[in-house]
Amino acid sequence: MARPVALPQVVRTRADLRDALAEARRPVGLVTTMGALHEGHASLIRMAHADNATVLVTIFVNPRQFNERSDFEAYPRDEAADVRVCGAAGATMVFIPPVEEVYPDGFQTSVRVGALTEPLEGASRPGHFEGVTTVVAILLTLAGAERAYFGQKDAQQLLVIRRMAADLGISTDIVACPIVREPDGLALSSRNVRLTPQQRAAAPVLRRALSAARARYDAGDRDAEILRATMQVTLAAEPLAAPEYVSCADPATLRELDRLTGPALLSMAVRFGAVRLIDNEPLS
Ligand code: PAJ
Repeated sequence: MARPVALPQVVRTRADLRDALAEARRPVGLVTTMGALHEGHASLIRMAHADNATVLVTIFVNPRQFNERSDFEAYPRDEAADVRVCGAAGATMVFIPPVEEVYPDGFQTSVRVGALTEPLEGASRPGHFEGVTTVVAILLTLAGAERAYFGQKDAQQLLVIRRMAADLGISTDIVACPIVREPDGLALSSRNVRLTPQQRAAAPVLRRALSAARARYDAGDRDAEILRATMQVTLAAEPLAAPEYVSCADPATLRELDRLTGPALLSMAVRFGAVRLIDNEPLS
């Protein structure tokens, strides 16, 4: 029989979070999420559990970071299942605030990071990163954690959050966690459940495109345009895939590269109907 999992404490207000944290054993590890939790999120929670005495998970579908209202409304939500995933992965407490606890009445503050937010996801999704950095600044401040865990799946988000934490003097250590994938290579995402069976079957093309470019890199190719073209050709062979961008960029600045003389970041965003998927592969 499966061992029953202790359910974590659920708190919903800033005041209750403060009280719970005042009694918490240190260090505290923070995992911020928008819910619809899957193995990718669980891996972050397990990493936080391995390093910290207390693990705080936040679940908040942040309206400010959605540039399409339909995407916000279609975003999957299942609180009871999410709390069970948190408990099974080792979370101590889960903060599930209503919108007014994150953005109190009269809210008028925004956190905007500069050039790093302009290319790639920033170019495709105006306002997205300002929504992300604003909510993450609030959550990092409320949590006051020693460490916070973010997935390499959202590589630009991770870079932007690191920059913000350094710039604002937020002392929480930002820890990067590897991408968790399905056996066929598709990176886990809360949006995968919205793919039709045909789109789901086509979606591993992102991983195949990244792997094809990596193979050229491993064979000695250092021309970024060839690596981008390799990804484009693989994607073009899949009729259900509509690429938004493919990139071979400097992993620190996210500027597109010409020739690779050091590490690089391959990344892409691809639409399957209404569902937009992203993936990436660091080269070093
Ligand atoms: P969300 O998409 O729910 O992701 C929460 C965290 O899980 C992020 O750090 C993300 O990179 C990580 N993650 C998602 N899929 C993953 C996978 N397949 N492998 C490894 N990690 C994965 O990212 C957000 O929410 C929001 O922007 C947030 C930071 C919570 C701010 O609202």
